[in-house]
Amino acid sequence: MSTLVIVGAQWGDEGKGKIVDFLTEKCDYVVRFQGGCNAGHTVVVGDEKYVLHLIPSGILHKGKKCIIGNGVVLDPSGLLKEIDTLLSKGVEIDNSLYIAKHCHLIMPYHIAIEEQAEKKKKIGTTKKGIGPCYTDKIARNGVRAVDLLYPEILRNKIKVNLEIINFLLKNLYDAKELEEEKIFEQYMDYSEKLKKYIFDTDILINKAIDSGKNVLFEGAQGTLLDIDHGTYPYVTSSNTIAGGACTGTGVSPIKIDKILGIVKAYTTRVGEGPFPTEIKDSLGEEIRKKGGEYGATTGRPRRCGWLDFVGLRHALRVNGFTGIAITKLDILDGMDKIKVCVGYKYGNTILEEFPKEIEILQNCIPIYEELPGWSEKTAGIRDYEKLPRNAQKYLQFIEDSLNVKIQIISTGQKRDEIIIKETPL
Ligand code: GDP
Ligand code: IMO
Ligand code: MG
Repeated sequence: MSTLVIVGAQWGDEGKGKIVDFLTEKCDYVVRFQGGCNAGHTVVVGDEKYVLHLIPSGILHKGKKCIIGNGVVLDPSGLLKEIDTLLSKGVEIDNSLYIAKHCHLIMPYHIAIEEQAEKKKKIGTTKKGIGPCYTDKIARNGVRAVDLLYPEILRNKIKVNLEIINFLLKNLYDAKELEEEKIFEQYMDYSEKLKKYIFDTDILINKAIDSGKNVLFEGAQGTLLDIDHGTYPYVTSSNTIAGGACTGTGVSPIKIDKILGIVKAYTTRVGEGPFPTEIKDSLGEEIRKKGGEYGATTGRPRRCGWLDFVGLRHALRVNGFTGIAITKLDILDGMDKIKVCVGYKYGNTILEEFPKEIEILQNCIPIYEELPGWSEKTAGIRDYEKLPRNAQKYLQFIEDSLNVKIQIISTGQKRDEIIIKETPL
């Protein structure tokens, strides 16, 4: 038996989808444990590109079980669209997809409220209703997938929740109120279409682990967007770190074998919030273009910057990576010099650890070391020995600075554009 949790080490979009898809070959189950359709995981197989938002990135391998765990917030309309797109491309869904009975559902009022809240206080969210849905979950007002099987419970929850939501929409935001009946009917329609996928997934996953199956846990977003350990309040509303894999699925921490951190060879961030190593001149734009750094969910341009060891050391600590994967190394091909941030300067103080205070982080100046770039191509290389000498030195520098093994290096979008130095599971 082997279980592996895969999480982003930065602010998301590290290339988790590609690595999950690659590793699925050796696995039986792939489980999403948090987030919702704020995630956009791009997987390229042959000439076909797939963007997965809710369905685990293992779905492109026939016969694997893909589970949406209880920690996920699920938008039924988004899921049905995703299912349709996959079906139209010949991907099999039935007998592969399972939804936790106890995952929470995004409701139209979550999206309506978030739209208004973003006008007052901008976080730069994906406007998918993620924060309001987790708010309802914690406040014990949430609607869960299992409620789709019990119409009276569903109706009553919608009724009670709308009393508050419509009061806010009308009186606080001066916005249009929502209709109970319309939402109820819409969700009964979703119920018809989705009920065949709803299961006690905690039992399913634990049985699989106990019977020796290989299980992958697929994280969404990244460590620095974690609700507790990220750059609060500029974060998402779930635990994106490895610990979330346990609460978000019902699997004990003692059953987790390995944790793989996905690290992009540089850094990106979408939305508001501090980003000390952001490159604000034309080089940032160059990396954005070359790396195709535009949001897979919202299409927004991603902010680009250098690798940040202060943030990565924090990610290493709170996740306990047993190994890391470096992605998008090829995007650095042809660069004269590559900078890496080894510490922060805050006033006259040198900071080696990631500050909890957002005001401090916003005013930190990165301390850089410069490494020589390489003019040769790494794109598509599958053999470590064939990488340019300076690319190897860059990777070695990362390994030494973080004191963690680089197990995988990704050199392109496609499934086989990858170097496996050591198998992570
Ligand atoms: P995720 O959210 O962590 O799954 O990452 P995204 O899919 O949002 O963003 C990563 C983007 O980089 C996607 O378009 C991937 O196809 C692409 N990608 C992943 N690994 C590599 C790589 O090694 N090289 C290149 N050039 N692109 C990559
Ligand atoms: P994947 O899984 C990058 C960001 C949003 C915003 C903040 C809060 O593809 O890596 P939310 O809608 O979650 O309440 O927005 O989090 N964000 C992401 N950034 N990749 C993602 O997912 C993200 N999901 C949310 O841009 O700054
Ligand atoms: Mg993404």
